[in-house]
Amino acid sequence: MTRNDIPRRGGNAVEVRGLVKHFGATKALDGVDLDVREGTVLGVLGPNGAGKTTLVRCLSTLLRPDAGSARVAGYDVLTQPRQLRRVIGLTGQYASVDEKLSGVENLYMIGRLLDLSRKDARRRAGEMLERFSLTEAAKRPAMQYSGGMRRRLDLAASMIGQPSVLYLDEPTTGLDPRTRNEVWTEVQRMVAEGATVLLTTQYMEEAEQLADELTVVDRGRVIAGGRVDELKAKVGGRTLQIRPADRAELARMAEAVELAGLAGIAGATADEAEGVVNVPIVSDEQLTAVVGLLGERGFAISGISTHLPSLDEVFLAVTGKKASTGAEPTDATGGDDTIRTDAPQEVAA
Ligand SMILES: Nc1ncnc2c1ncn2[C@@H]1O[C@H](COP(=O)(O)OP(=O)(O)OP(=O)(O)O)[C@@H](O)[C@H]1O
Ligand SMILES: [Mg+2]
Repeated sequence: MTRNDIPRRGGNAVEVRGLVKHFGATKALDGVDLDVREGTVLGVLGPNGAGKTTLVRCLSTLLRPDAGSARVAGYDVLTQPRQLRRVIGLTGQYASVDEKLSGVENLYMIGRLLDLSRKDARRRAGEMLERFSLTEAAKRPAMQYSGGMRRRLDLAASMIGQPSVLYLDEPTTGLDPRTRNEVWTEVQRMVAEGATVLLTTQYMEEAEQLADELTVVDRGRVIAGGRVDELKAKVGGRTLQIRPADRAELARMAEAVELAGLAGIAGATADEAEGVVNVPIVSDEQLTAVVGLLGERGFAISGISTHLPSLDEVFLAVTGKKASTGAEPTDATGGDDTIRTDAPQEVAA
C-alpha cells in the first residue's frame, strides 16, 4: 500500500457534511461540516468534550455516525470502510500499543497487518524507531516505556504504512518540549511527503506550528474556522511579558511603558503575583520598541517572553463567550480538565 494507490481527485482529502453523533442525550457531533485540502494540515481546536475525538473516530470508521456523510481520500466512511482504513493512519488520544511486545515488535506487527512484506515491515520499523529516537529502547517491552515513549511509539505505528491521510488526536498532550518538537518535525515531514493531516489539539502553539487552517469546535459544532493568521488576527496578537530584575520596580516599569506613547502600545499592566509586566503587542517591532525603551530608562530586566493567545482567548474572540469545559480529563498521562494556555515562547533579549 502506498500513497499512489489512492484515487487522486484533487481538492479535498477529507470532506465532512452535516455529521451527527449522539450518545444518549449528549450531542457529541451536532452537524459538523469541514474540508481538509489534500496535502495540508487542518487543526481542530476545541475544549474538553467539544467532540474532537468523536469526529476522529467517525472518520476512522471506529464509530458510526447517526447522520451526515464523510469521505476520506475519496472513500465513503459508511459504505467503503475497508478501503478507507487502508489509506488512513490514526494516533488516538490514548496510546494503543501492545504492552507485552517490544517497540520493534509492535511496529513490525502493524507493518505486517498493513500487508508489508517481512523485509519491508522490518525496514520501516527500523526507520520509524530511528525517527522517533526509540532505537535504543527498541527491544524493551512497551510496558517499560514512559508516557512520552509510548506516545512516540504510537505515532510511529500510525505512520508506518505511509498513510495518505493521518489523524492525530492531541498528539503531544503530556509530552516534554523536546519530544513535542520531534513530533512536529515528523508530522511536517509526512506532509512534505504528500500526506494530509487532521490534527486535534488544545494548544494554540501546536496549531500555529503545524496547521494551514483551523476549525474551532465547541459542543459538537464548528464555531469558527479559517487560516491561522486570520483567527489570530481576530484575537489580536500576543502578550509580551517582561520580568524586572528588581520586583519592586514592577509598577514603575508598567507606568514607563504606558506613558511612553509608543506606537500602538496601550494597556501595560503589572502582574504582582507573577512578578511581570504584561504588554499586549501585535508585532516584533513593538516588542523591540518596548524592550529598547526600558533599556534607555535604565531598568534591569531579568526575563522576556511572549505568549500566544490561549485557546480560551481564541474562544472569547470568536464567540464572545467563555469556552465550555467538559468534566473528563484530557489524557491518560496528564489528566487535566482545564483548557491549556500555550507554553511561553522564550525570546532572545
Ligand atoms: N462512548 C461514549 N459514550 C458516551 N458519551 C460519550 C462517548 N464518547 C464521547 N462521549 C461524550 O461526547 C462528548 C464529546 O466527547 P469527545 O471525546 O469527542 O470530546 P473531545 O473534544 O475529544 O474532548 P477532550 O478534549 O477531552 O479529548 C462528551 O460530552 C463526551 O462525554
Ligand atoms: Mg478527545
